[in-house]
Amino acid sequence: KETVVSGIRPTGKLHLGNYFGAVTNFVKMQYDYNCYFFIADLHSLTTHPTPGDLHGYVRHVLVEYLACGINPEETTIYVQSDVPEVSELYLYLNMNAYLGELERSASFKEKIRANPDNVNAGLLTYPTLMAADILIHRATKVPVGKDQEQHLEMTRNFGNRFNRMYNADFFPESFAFNYAENLVKVPGLEGKGKMSKSDGDGNCIYLSDSPEIIRKKVARAVSDSGPTEENQEKPEAIQNLFDLMKIVSTPDTVAHFDGLYNKMQIRYGDMKKQLAEDMIIFNSPIRERIEELSKDDLYLRQVAKHGALKARESAQKTIKEVRNLIGFKVFN
Ligand code: TYM
Repeated sequence: KETVVSGIRPTGKLHLGNYFGAVTNFVKMQYDYNCYFFIADLHSLTTHPTPGDLHGYVRHVLVEYLACGINPEETTIYVQSDVPEVSELYLYLNMNAYLGELERSASFKEKIRANPDNVNAGLLTYPTLMAADILIHRATKVPVGKDQEQHLEMTRNFGNRFNRMYNADFFPESFAFNYAENLVKVPGLEGKGKMSKSDGDGNCIYLSDSPEIIRKKVARAVSDSGPTEENQEKPEAIQNLFDLMKIVSTPDTVAHFDGLYNKMQIRYGDMKKQLAEDMIIFNSPIRERIEELSKDDLYLRQVAKHGALKARESAQKTIKEVRNLIGFKVFN
């Protein structure tokens, strides 16, 4: 079986972007691959969470992984910081990661633009930590959304560089994966860009949102005053509503509103109502499981502990060989 790794930062609750970009693939892949799914708490330190918030969010992502259907018997679910071998590999990879390539990373550029007062070394070396996450299990497939594609390219560069440097065919190449033909980018509700926690709660539909909240958020989604000619191309905000609808509604529903748009008969209010109801149908069972699982401290602790043991076993195997290749020999 091929090995699969992916993770999500515990910076908030999971939204539809996380689900359709990543988690839905985790759930499907778990029976066909040797899977490691983790909670990227080390990565989230770049934004300096308080200790209380950090633990709460880690717990929340764990609950949501389980609520979405990731089975801890089939896969390894773990918290990144429970596997210190990841940090060790990160250190080694940083020795051969160059300032120029790290500065060229699109996500780094975006983060310094968004937050120029907090340009820390952790942000700069975010891609090497991510490479360490993947290479520590020598994975080949990484289910992620479109926004992570460049990080996968950097991971391949770091792995290949290590192989060349130590003249070993050790790390395999890994590629972003989605069952659909293309990687997914779920749009937000604010008319432009992807669904993202950093753009505020109004831009996101969370898996844990109640029906009332979903109706309210979708009703406020950005639209426009309607098409001005038949069959006209859709502006971004409208295309985004249709793209969201394609995710949660049936093809017939999408075709219905598409037809109305092309005939200039669309009423966005009706479309939004339908979109909200279809989102509610999708998320209700997950929301209910989230509520159930959040109460079960004992089970969560068991899952995290069991996952950490399994993940460390795999990580220790890799680190032992890496140390050997680098030339750290045990004295005897
Ligand atoms: P993060 O925490 O930002 O997002 C988690 C996953 O959700 C996907 N995603 C989306 N997909 C489609 N449309 C959207 N609007 C959308 N928003 C988020 C992301 O692509 C991602 O798959 N660097 C990673 C976490 C990470 C990781 C790793 C992933 C750390 N180490 C190793 C894979 C392998 C991140 O920040 O994802």
